[in-house]
Amino acid sequence: MHLASDPQQTADLVASGASCIAYETVTDDDGKLPLLIPMSEIAGRLAMQEAASHLEKHHGGMGILLGGATGVEPGHVVIIGGGVVGRNACKIALGLGAKVSILDTSTAKLEQLKTLFEGRVNCVLSTTESLQQYVTTADLVVGAVLVPGGAATQVISADLVRKMKPGAVIADVAIDQGGCCENSRPTTHKDPTFIVDGVVHYCVTNIPGAVPRTASKALNNATLPYIRELARSGIRSALMQNPHLRHGLNVYRGKLTRPEVADALGLEYHSAESVLKASS
Ligand SMILES: NC(=O)c1ccc[n+]([C@@H]2O[C@H](COP(=O)([O-])OP(=O)(O)OC[C@H]3O[C@@H](n4cnc5c(N)ncnc54)[C@H](O)[C@@H]3O)[C@@H](O)[C@H]2O)c1
Repeated sequence: MHLASDPQQTADLVASGASCIAYETVTDDDGKLPLLIPMSEIAGRLAMQEAASHLEKHHGGMGILLGGATGVEPGHVVIIGGGVVGRNACKIALGLGAKVSILDTSTAKLEQLKTLFEGRVNCVLSTTESLQQYVTTADLVVGAVLVPGGAATQVISADLVRKMKPGAVIADVAIDQGGCCENSRPTTHKDPTFIVDGVVHYCVTNIPGAVPRTASKALNNATLPYIRELARSGIRSALMQNPHLRHGLNVYRGKLTRPEVADALGLEYHSAESVLKASS
């Protein structure tokens, strides 16, 4: 629902008296957002597939095959942000035979990735210097950064793009949060790319929308346990019993129950616990 940036929808939902649970704030035991993970998995995998095809000459790319050929070196993929999107983009890039480097600001994340990919991936701390070094030598860059609760950090400046190889590709998956490249602007599946300074920019905001059958199944798998709980216990008891589902509650019978939404829109906040206890 992303209510913090949508005052009209918020006002309408509050006025409706409905109970509204948002996918984007339901949590799990590890503090992750389980209902967003399937879309990030798909976006990471598909972005790599798409970006690889844009390296082809007729798509404006430099005309290389990521996997190389016998006696010809593979392409170099640089992934900025080693979370769900980055990890899944990496799986596909390795499958295509590319050489892969992942940059992240979290050393714990880099350690996990090193173990997960059994040393087949170059894991690098993301700093101004490493970004400069890796982005300018990459054939394909995937932007997959996320700063929870904030807009994506612009890790690739327009100036850095000017220093990239001609015909390189940037897939800015973080475009749905504003993008992590200064040049990025939202594009669609019908017209997915534009070229700036000889570099192909792929900036589709809803990447999983291209594969709705896979995306719907993946989303349904993640959602079904919560739907079952709501059907079995009813909305109020399910919310009282399950703190993770309760985190998802944004509006309950005319009251706003997420502090960050109330803050952003200057509206009154009520804790989910207090409104649930007060209702019968
Ligand atoms: N376009 C689409 O269709 C689509 C679909 C799903 C997700 N997304 C977007 O993809 C982005 C990544 O999502 P995710 O689920 O992988 O998030 P995530 O939280 O799992 O991972 C984000 C990673 O970025 C790292 N990071 C933060 N700042 C960094 C920096 N300056 N340099 C390098 N790494 C940095 C974090 O440490 C983290 O590991 C988000 O912006 C999300 O909104 C887009």
